[in-house]
Amino acid sequence: MFTNNQIFAAPLAGVTDRPFRRIVREFAPNAPIVTEMISCHSLVGGRKNCLRNFDRYDEEGPVGAQIFGADAGLMADAARILQDAGAKWIDINMGCPVPKVATRAGAGAFLMRDHRLAGDIMRAVVNAVQIPVSIKTRLGWDDAHRDWRDMINVAADCGVKFVALHGRTRAQLYLGPAVLPDVHGCPLPVIANGDIRCADDLSRASELGYAGAMIGRAMLGRPWIIGTIGGGAAPTNVGNIVRRHLEYSLEYYGAKTAVPMFRKHVAWYSAGMPNSAEFRIRVNGIIDPDELRVAIDEFWGCDLDI
Ligand SMILES: Cc1cc2nc3c(=O)[nH]c(=O)nc-3n(C[C@H](O)[C@H](O)[C@H](O)COP(=O)(O)O)c2cc1C
Repeated sequence: MFTNNQIFAAPLAGVTDRPFRRIVREFAPNAPIVTEMISCHSLVGGRKNCLRNFDRYDEEGPVGAQIFGADAGLMADAARILQDAGAKWIDINMGCPVPKVATRAGAGAFLMRDHRLAGDIMRAVVNAVQIPVSIKTRLGWDDAHRDWRDMINVAADCGVKFVALHGRTRAQLYLGPAVLPDVHGCPLPVIANGDIRCADDLSRASELGYAGAMIGRAMLGRPWIIGTIGGGAAPTNVGNIVRRHLEYSLEYYGAKTAVPMFRKHVAWYSAGMPNSAEFRIRVNGIIDPDELRVAIDEFWGCDLDI
Protein backbone atom coordinates (compact mmCIF):
# COMPACT_ATOMS: atom_id res chain seq x y z
CA MET A 1 0.00 0.00 0.00
CA PHE A 2 1.00 3.58 -0.48
CA THR A 3 2.09 6.00 2.22
CA ASN A 4 0.64 9.50 2.58
CA ASN A 5 3.25 11.12 0.39
CA GLN A 6 2.45 8.69 -2.45
CA ILE A 7 -1.23 9.68 -2.64
CA PHE A 8 -1.47 12.69 -4.93
CA ALA A 9 -4.25 15.24 -5.40
CA ALA A 10 -4.72 15.57 -9.18
CA PRO A 11 -4.73 18.89 -10.98
CA LEU A 12 -8.33 19.97 -11.58
CA ALA A 13 -8.79 23.25 -13.44
CA GLY A 14 -11.23 25.49 -11.57
CA VAL A 15 -10.94 23.33 -8.44
CA THR A 16 -7.45 22.75 -7.02
CA ASP A 17 -6.82 26.41 -6.37
CA ARG A 18 -5.18 27.71 -3.22
CA PRO A 19 -8.34 27.67 -1.03
CA PHE A 20 -9.06 24.06 -2.03
CA ARG A 21 -5.47 23.03 -1.42
CA ARG A 22 -5.66 24.52 2.10
CA ILE A 23 -8.62 22.27 2.84
CA VAL A 24 -6.89 19.18 1.42
CA ARG A 25 -3.88 19.94 3.61
CA GLU A 26 -5.99 19.81 6.76
CA PHE A 27 -6.45 16.10 6.12
CA ALA A 28 -3.28 15.28 4.25
CA PRO A 29 -0.43 17.57 5.30
CA ASN A 30 2.21 15.67 3.31
CA ALA A 31 0.20 14.88 0.20
CA PRO A 32 1.65 16.01 -3.09
CA ILE A 33 -0.91 18.33 -4.71
CA VAL A 34 -0.80 19.53 -8.30
CA THR A 35 -2.08 23.01 -9.15
CA GLU A 36 -4.59 23.71 -11.87
CA MET A 37 -2.86 23.84 -15.25
CA ILE A 38 -1.23 27.18 -16.04
CA SER A 39 -0.60 28.35 -19.59
CA CYS A 40 3.06 29.11 -20.27
CA HIS A 41 1.93 32.01 -22.47
CA SER A 42 -0.15 33.56 -19.70
CA LEU A 43 2.52 32.99 -17.10
CA VAL A 44 5.42 34.39 -19.09
CA GLY A 45 3.23 37.21 -20.41
CA GLY A 46 2.27 38.01 -16.81
CA ARG A 47 -1.45 38.02 -17.53
CA LYS A 48 -3.43 39.04 -14.51
CA ASN A 49 -6.03 36.34 -14.80
CA CYS A 50 -3.32 33.71 -14.62
CA LEU A 51 -1.51 35.27 -11.70
CA ARG A 52 -4.54 34.54 -9.57
CA ASN A 53 -4.00 30.83 -10.12
CA PHE A 54 -0.34 31.11 -9.50
CA ASP A 55 0.90 32.06 -6.07
CA ARG A 56 3.81 31.79 -3.78
CA TYR A 57 3.91 28.10 -2.93
CA ASP A 58 6.68 28.26 -0.31
CA GLU A 59 4.59 27.69 2.78
CA GLU A 60 2.19 25.24 1.13
CA GLY A 61 3.95 21.89 1.55
CA PRO A 62 4.51 19.67 -1.48
CA VAL A 63 2.90 21.53 -4.39
CA GLY A 64 3.69 20.72 -8.00
CA ALA A 65 2.90 23.49 -10.44
CA GLN A 66 1.45 22.24 -13.71
CA ILE A 67 2.17 24.05 -16.96
CA PHE A 68 0.86 23.54 -20.46
CA GLY A 69 2.03 24.79 -23.82
CA ALA A 70 3.69 23.79 -27.04
CA ASP A 71 6.67 26.14 -27.08
CA ALA A 72 9.74 24.62 -25.41
CA GLY A 73 11.36 28.00 -24.68
CA LEU A 74 8.24 29.47 -23.10
CA MET A 75 7.67 26.29 -21.12
CA ALA A 76 11.22 26.56 -19.75
CA ASP A 77 10.65 30.21 -18.80
CA ALA A 78 7.34 29.35 -17.15
CA ALA A 79 9.01 26.55 -15.18
CA ARG A 80 11.66 28.96 -13.89
CA ILE A 81 9.01 31.44 -12.76
CA LEU A 82 7.19 28.71 -10.85
CA GLN A 83 10.38 27.36 -9.32
CA ASP A 84 11.13 30.90 -8.09
CA ALA A 85 7.59 31.03 -6.69
CA GLY A 86 8.36 28.04 -4.48
CA ALA A 87 6.89 25.12 -6.45
CA LYS A 88 8.37 21.84 -5.23
CA TRP A 89 8.24 20.31 -8.67
CA ILE A 90 7.06 21.15 -12.19
CA ASP A 91 4.46 18.99 -13.90
CA ILE A 92 4.04 19.15 -17.68
CA ASN A 93 0.50 18.60 -18.94
CA MET A 94 0.50 15.99 -21.70
CA GLY A 95 -3.04 14.74 -21.30
CA CYS A 96 -5.55 17.58 -21.46
CA PRO A 97 -8.03 16.68 -24.23
CA VAL A 98 -10.02 19.92 -24.48
CA PRO A 99 -9.84 21.43 -27.99
CA LYS A 100 -8.57 24.80 -26.73
CA VAL A 101 -5.47 23.06 -25.37
CA ALA A 102 -5.03 19.86 -27.38
CA THR A 103 -5.94 20.95 -30.89
CA ARG A 104 -5.85 24.73 -31.13
CA ALA A 105 -2.74 25.21 -28.97
CA GLY A 106 -1.05 21.92 -29.94
CA ALA A 107 -0.38 21.29 -26.25
CA GLY A 108 -1.69 18.91 -23.57
CA ALA A 109 -2.79 15.61 -25.10
CA PHE A 110 -1.57 16.71 -28.53
CA LEU A 111 1.99 16.08 -27.36
CA MET A 112 1.17 12.35 -27.34
CA ARG A 113 1.01 12.63 -31.15
CA ASP A 114 4.38 14.30 -31.40
CA HIS A 115 6.94 12.63 -29.15
CA ARG A 116 9.73 14.69 -30.65
CA LEU A 117 8.12 17.98 -29.63
CA ALA A 118 7.20 16.41 -26.29
CA GLY A 119 10.87 15.47 -25.83
CA ASP A 120 12.03 18.99 -26.74
CA ILE A 121 9.68 20.45 -24.15
CA MET A 122 10.65 17.98 -21.44
CA ARG A 123 14.37 18.52 -22.04
CA ALA A 124 13.99 22.31 -22.03
CA VAL A 125 12.03 22.27 -18.77
CA VAL A 126 14.37 19.79 -17.08
CA ASN A 127 17.37 21.93 -18.04
CA ALA A 128 15.67 25.13 -16.86
CA VAL A 129 15.07 24.16 -13.23
CA GLN A 130 16.77 22.47 -10.30
CA ILE A 131 13.56 20.95 -8.93
CA PRO A 132 12.14 17.64 -10.24
CA VAL A 133 10.02 17.58 -13.38
CA SER A 134 7.12 15.19 -13.95
CA ILE A 135 4.67 14.67 -16.78
CA LYS A 136 1.00 13.79 -16.68
CA THR A 137 -0.17 11.85 -19.68
CA ARG A 138 -2.70 9.32 -20.95
CA LEU A 139 -2.55 5.86 -22.53
CA GLY A 140 -2.26 7.43 -25.98
CA TRP A 141 -4.20 9.46 -28.52
CA ASP A 142 -6.77 6.77 -29.32
CA ASP A 143 -7.22 3.01 -29.35
CA ALA A 144 -4.94 2.64 -32.35
CA HIS A 145 -2.15 4.61 -30.62
CA ARG A 146 -1.67 3.32 -27.09
CA ASP A 147 1.97 4.30 -26.96
CA TRP A 148 2.27 5.39 -23.33
CA ARG A 149 5.33 3.19 -22.81
CA ASP A 150 7.18 4.99 -25.62
CA MET A 151 6.29 8.33 -24.03
CA ILE A 152 7.60 7.17 -20.66
CA ASN A 153 10.85 6.03 -22.31
CA VAL A 154 11.22 9.46 -23.94
CA ALA A 155 10.52 11.10 -20.58
CA ALA A 156 13.20 9.00 -18.88
CA ASP A 157 15.73 9.96 -21.57
CA CYS A 158 14.90 13.63 -21.03
CA GLY A 159 15.55 13.53 -17.28
CA VAL A 160 11.92 13.58 -16.12
CA LYS A 161 11.64 12.11 -12.61
CA PHE A 162 8.18 10.53 -12.59
CA VAL A 163 4.99 10.16 -14.61
CA ALA A 164 1.30 10.29 -13.75
CA LEU A 165 -0.62 8.01 -16.12
CA HIS A 166 -4.37 8.51 -16.67
CA GLY A 167 -5.84 5.17 -17.74
CA ARG A 168 -7.79 6.53 -20.70
CA THR A 169 -6.91 7.64 -24.22
CA ARG A 170 -7.44 11.18 -25.44
CA ALA A 171 -10.34 9.91 -27.55
CA GLN A 172 -12.07 8.62 -24.42
CA LEU A 173 -12.01 12.05 -22.79
CA TYR A 174 -13.38 11.25 -19.31
CA LEU A 175 -15.86 8.61 -20.44
CA GLY A 176 -15.99 4.94 -19.61
CA PRO A 177 -13.97 3.27 -16.89
CA ALA A 178 -10.26 4.02 -16.65
CA VAL A 179 -8.11 0.94 -17.31
CA LEU A 180 -4.70 1.01 -15.70
CA PRO A 181 -2.07 -1.04 -17.51
CA ASP A 182 0.65 -3.02 -15.77
CA VAL A 183 3.66 -0.71 -15.49
CA HIS A 184 6.29 -3.15 -14.24
CA GLY A 185 9.51 -2.59 -16.12
CA CYS A 186 8.95 1.11 -16.83
CA PRO A 187 12.12 3.17 -16.44
CA LEU A 188 10.41 5.77 -14.20
CA PRO A 189 8.06 5.64 -11.20
CA VAL A 190 4.50 5.78 -12.50
CA ILE A 191 1.57 7.23 -10.53
CA ALA A 192 -1.84 5.68 -11.25
CA ASN A 193 -4.65 8.04 -12.22
CA GLY A 194 -8.25 7.47 -13.22
CA ASP A 195 -11.22 6.35 -11.11
CA ILE A 196 -9.18 5.91 -7.91
CA ARG A 197 -11.79 6.10 -5.15
CA CYS A 198 -11.05 3.63 -2.35
CA ALA A 199 -8.32 1.67 -0.61
CA ASP A 200 -8.90 -1.34 -2.89
CA ASP A 201 -8.07 0.84 -5.89
CA LEU A 202 -4.76 1.73 -4.21
CA SER A 203 -3.95 -1.95 -3.62
CA ARG A 204 -4.72 -2.78 -7.24
CA ALA A 205 -2.49 0.04 -8.47
CA SER A 206 0.31 -1.16 -6.22
CA GLU A 207 0.01 -4.71 -7.59
CA LEU A 208 0.24 -3.35 -11.13
CA GLY A 209 3.60 -1.78 -10.32
CA TYR A 210 2.56 1.84 -9.66
CA ALA A 211 4.61 3.96 -7.28
CA GLY A 212 1.60 5.94 -6.07
CA ALA A 213 -1.92 7.01 -6.93
CA MET A 214 -3.47 10.31 -7.97
CA ILE A 215 -7.07 11.15 -7.12
CA GLY A 216 -9.12 13.54 -9.23
CA ARG A 217 -12.90 13.70 -9.30
CA ALA A 218 -13.33 11.71 -6.10
CA MET A 219 -12.08 14.87 -4.34
CA LEU A 220 -15.06 16.92 -5.50
CA GLY A 221 -17.11 17.58 -2.40
CA ARG A 222 -14.78 15.25 -0.51
CA PRO A 223 -11.37 16.92 -0.33
CA TRP A 224 -10.61 14.90 2.79
CA ILE A 225 -10.40 11.71 0.69
CA ILE A 226 -6.72 12.37 0.10
CA GLY A 227 -6.19 11.69 3.81
CA THR A 228 -9.00 9.24 4.54
CA ILE A 229 -8.24 6.86 1.66
CA GLY A 230 -5.00 5.98 3.41
CA GLY A 231 -6.70 5.55 6.80
CA GLY A 232 -6.83 9.16 8.10
CA ALA A 233 -9.76 10.47 10.13
CA ALA A 234 -12.84 11.76 8.29
CA PRO A 235 -14.36 15.14 9.21
CA THR A 236 -16.92 15.03 11.98
CA ASN A 237 -18.85 18.03 10.68
CA VAL A 238 -18.77 18.53 6.90
CA GLY A 239 -20.48 21.92 7.27
CA ASN A 240 -17.46 23.24 9.13
CA ILE A 241 -15.25 22.23 6.22
CA VAL A 242 -17.58 23.92 3.75
CA ARG A 243 -17.59 27.09 5.82
CA ARG A 244 -13.81 27.14 6.14
CA HIS A 245 -13.45 26.51 2.39
CA LEU A 246 -15.81 29.44 1.78
CA GLU A 247 -13.82 31.71 4.12
CA TYR A 248 -10.56 30.82 2.38
CA SER A 249 -12.16 31.51 -1.00
CA LEU A 250 -13.55 34.87 0.12
CA GLU A 251 -10.17 35.85 1.49
CA TYR A 252 -8.40 34.78 -1.70
CA TYR A 253 -10.73 35.97 -4.48
CA GLY A 254 -12.90 38.60 -2.80
CA ALA A 255 -16.68 38.24 -2.45
CA LYS A 256 -17.65 39.24 -5.99
CA THR A 257 -15.72 36.36 -7.54
CA ALA A 258 -15.78 33.88 -4.67
CA VAL A 259 -19.54 33.70 -4.05
CA PRO A 260 -20.56 32.62 -7.57
CA MET A 261 -17.45 30.47 -7.87
CA PHE A 262 -18.30 28.65 -4.67
CA ARG A 263 -21.71 27.44 -5.95
CA LYS A 264 -20.17 24.41 -7.63
CA HIS A 265 -18.43 23.42 -4.40
CA VAL A 266 -21.71 23.71 -2.51
CA ALA A 267 -23.31 21.43 -5.13
CA TRP A 268 -20.54 18.84 -4.76
CA TYR A 269 -20.48 18.97 -0.96
CA SER A 270 -24.24 18.62 -0.68
CA ALA A 271 -24.75 16.01 -3.45
CA GLY A 272 -26.96 13.14 -2.34
CA MET A 273 -28.04 14.81 0.92
CA PRO A 274 -31.75 15.27 1.74
CA ASN A 275 -33.13 18.54 0.29
CA SER A 276 -29.88 19.22 -1.56
CA ALA A 277 -31.69 20.16 -4.80
CA GLU A 278 -33.68 22.93 -3.02
CA PHE A 279 -30.54 24.00 -1.19
CA ARG A 280 -28.61 24.35 -4.46
CA ILE A 281 -31.39 26.45 -6.00
CA ARG A 282 -31.30 28.71 -2.95
CA VAL A 283 -27.50 29.03 -3.06
CA ASN A 284 -27.47 29.75 -6.80
CA GLY A 285 -29.51 32.89 -6.14
CA ILE A 286 -27.20 34.22 -3.42
CA ILE A 287 -24.69 36.99 -4.12
CA ASP A 288 -24.06 38.21 -0.58
CA PRO A 289 -21.35 36.33 1.38
CA ASP A 290 -23.18 36.67 4.71
CA GLU A 291 -26.30 35.17 3.17
CA LEU A 292 -24.21 32.28 1.86
CA ARG A 293 -22.67 31.77 5.30
CA VAL A 294 -26.14 31.58 6.86
CA ALA A 295 -27.41 29.17 4.19
CA ILE A 296 -24.46 26.83 4.71
CA ASP A 297 -24.75 26.99 8.50
CA GLU A 298 -28.46 26.21 8.34
CA PHE A 299 -28.09 23.34 5.88
CA TRP A 300 -25.33 21.52 7.69
CA GLY A 301 -25.80 22.79 11.23
CA CYS A 302 -22.28 24.14 11.53
CA ASP A 303 -20.69 24.67 14.91
CA LEU A 304 -17.78 26.61 13.56
CA ASP A 305 -16.26 29.50 15.39
CA ILE A 306 -14.38 31.32 12.65
C1 LIG B 1 -12.90 19.55 -13.86
C2 LIG B 1 -11.61 18.88 -14.26
C3 LIG B 1 -10.49 19.66 -14.43
C4 LIG B 1 -9.27 19.06 -14.80
N1 LIG B 1 -8.16 19.82 -14.91
C5 LIG B 1 -6.97 19.25 -15.22
C6 LIG B 1 -5.77 20.02 -15.29
O1 LIG B 1 -5.77 21.24 -15.08
N2 LIG B 1 -4.63 19.36 -15.61
C7 LIG B 1 -4.59 18.00 -15.84
O2 LIG B 1 -3.52 17.44 -16.10
N3 LIG B 1 -5.70 17.25 -15.73
C8 LIG B 1 -6.88 17.84 -15.43
N4 LIG B 1 -7.99 17.06 -15.30
C9 LIG B 1 -7.86 15.59 -15.36
C10 LIG B 1 -7.68 15.02 -13.96
O3 LIG B 1 -6.48 15.49 -13.36
C11 LIG B 1 -7.63 13.49 -13.98
O4 LIG B 1 -6.58 13.06 -14.81
C12 LIG B 1 -8.93 12.87 -14.50
O5 LIG B 1 -10.06 13.50 -13.92
C13 LIG B 1 -8.97 11.36 -14.20
O6 LIG B 1 -8.85 11.11 -12.81
P1 LIG B 1 -10.15 10.80 -11.90
O7 LIG B 1 -10.88 9.66 -12.54
O8 LIG B 1 -9.57 10.46 -10.55
O9 LIG B 1 -10.97 12.05 -11.90
C14 LIG B 1 -9.21 17.65 -14.98
C15 LIG B 1 -10.37 16.89 -14.83
C16 LIG B 1 -11.55 17.48 -14.47
C17 LIG B 1 -12.77 16.61 -14.31
